[in-house]
Amino acid sequence: MYLGFRNKDLVVLEEEYKKVSDKFVLATDDGSYGEKGFAIDFLKKDLKSQNIDGVYACGPLPMLKAVQKLCKEEKVPCQISLEERMGCGIGACLGCAVKVAAGEETVYTHVCKAGPVFDANVVEI
Ligand code: FES
Repeated sequence: MYLGFRNKDLVVLEEEYKKVSDKFVLATDDGSYGEKGFAIDFLKKDLKSQNIDGVYACGPLPMLKAVQKLCKEEKVPCQISLEERMGCGIGACLGCAVKVAAGEETVYTHVCKAGPVFDANVVEI
């Protein structure tokens, strides 16, 4: 479990995550609590040195893009949970459309119906 927060005041559910984690890393951007830096920096280091079978990520889009890129580079299976604004939630408004690879083509699908979790190798974010 790699958790990242801007600072100590924004840390939530630390004990709950620790209870369900074999390995636990908490990082704050400013170093006010836990490790200093971004959680992905610690994941990156461990992906290179430890046997990690897969990654599941949720959070802000820039972080998801970075995790997606990292996992592709390291050839580690990765699933990401997208948090799109959802107008209808039933596939009608197209407000949550994302591009995904479908064979040789790229098509749009809906986060609300097909997601929110996608294989990082097929979704374009
Ligand atoms: S929220 Fe309207 S299509 Fe997904």
